[in-house]
Amino acid sequence: METVGVGIVGCGNISAAYLRSVETFRVLRAVACTDLDLGRAQARAKEFGVPKVCSLEELLADPEVQIVVNLTNPKAHEEVSLAAIAAGKHVYTEKPLALTREGGRRILEAARQQGVRVGCAPGTHLGGGLQTCRKLIDEGAIGRPVACAAFMMSHGHESWHPSPAYYYQPGAGPMFDMGPYYLTALVNLLGPVVRVAGMVGIQIPERTITSQPLYGQKIRVETPDHVVGALHFADGAIGTIITTFAVWHSSLPRIEIYGTEGSLSVPDPNSLGGPVRISLAGEREWQEVPLTHGHTDSRTMWGIGLADMAQAILSGRPHRATGELGYHVLDVMEGFFDSAASGRYYQVESTFPRPAPLPQGLPEDVLDD
Ligand SMILES: NC(=O)c1ccc[n+]([C@@H]2O[C@H](COP(=O)([O-])OP(=O)(O)OC[C@H]3O[C@@H](n4cnc5c(N)ncnc54)[C@H](O)[C@@H]3O)[C@@H](O)[C@H]2O)c1
Repeated sequence: METVGVGIVGCGNISAAYLRSVETFRVLRAVACTDLDLGRAQARAKEFGVPKVCSLEELLADPEVQIVVNLTNPKAHEEVSLAAIAAGKHVYTEKPLALTREGGRRILEAARQQGVRVGCAPGTHLGGGLQTCRKLIDEGAIGRPVACAAFMMSHGHESWHPSPAYYYQPGAGPMFDMGPYYLTALVNLLGPVVRVAGMVGIQIPERTITSQPLYGQKIRVETPDHVVGALHFADGAIGTIITTFAVWHSSLPRIEIYGTEGSLSVPDPNSLGGPVRISLAGEREWQEVPLTHGHTDSRTMWGIGLADMAQAILSGRPHRATGELGYHVLDVMEGFFDSAASGRYYQVESTFPRPAPLPQGLPEDVLDD
């Protein structure tokens, strides 16, 4: 199979998961990696056999690098993506696309001018669980969707991440960090959002790190750690979302979609698998639905959107985890904050081409028939 060369920028925590999926998807080939801390890049290169460790400038000048994979912290996403685009490279960036709508628009506009592609995580809507939900909704299994609910209830990342401070700065917090999984799943299933309202707060302003190596250090929370949103979808459904880093325990579901003929229980959008469950009008119980699509292996989770983009580049088809989708999600997330600040609804003006569903029956390491 023809391969696409990728260059990794940012060799922190999540780079290992990406490099593991680069090994899995046959279309991807790791060419080079870099980090502000070159020692981290060297360690990752050794672990995964990446042939070259170099500066960002050298990585961007390497003709073997076709896609720059931007795994830096959120505040560096825009700068690194723009540098890659200016060098004529396609970019696949971790979420959020940028810290602000303006930053997101600068990336999309620069890519349009250069004729390169922008992909944006998450790609989890390509997993077997969410593809099964998409098929059920598109086939009318629960009738016309009228409502949805999404809940990401947690106490934050300071108990496990080795350098968790960035999770409490603008560009992260529960909405910008975890919201993209939930919102990308929702808009892939239900289409674009046209209006939102939000209520946000910093509920626990100081955190203590309990992971190593920074155990005991304090973090000041500088972005809301509890975000409540209401969403109006263009097709009429009305949704509710809570993302929080301020809750120890909850028994709320991850995502449910409610239709005129029944309800759909959607699996964790921060995963590729199931379970998918349905309960139709008149039934008392939920029934588990067998997954109609593959790609459920969590080891491939972080590379799936990237691999889809690489295959799309080779065949000329549209990719599925697009910058436009990432921008719409960013617009909605920032909309919750704008609404909370103004006390008014925020009208969402962006939209995106809804990604084509994946074909059924594909091998696990391939994303095209
Ligand atoms: N850790 C996770 O579980 C996880 C999961 C999904 C997505 N993400 C996303 O992935 C991104 C990275 O997260 P992480 O947890 O790996 O963070 P991290 O802090 O562990 O690693 C980020 C790395 O980027 C490097 N970096 C920052 N600015 C840079 C620049 N301008 N040029 C080169 N290198 C630069 C840092 O030195 C660091 O090594 C974030 O956007 C995050 O939202 C993380």
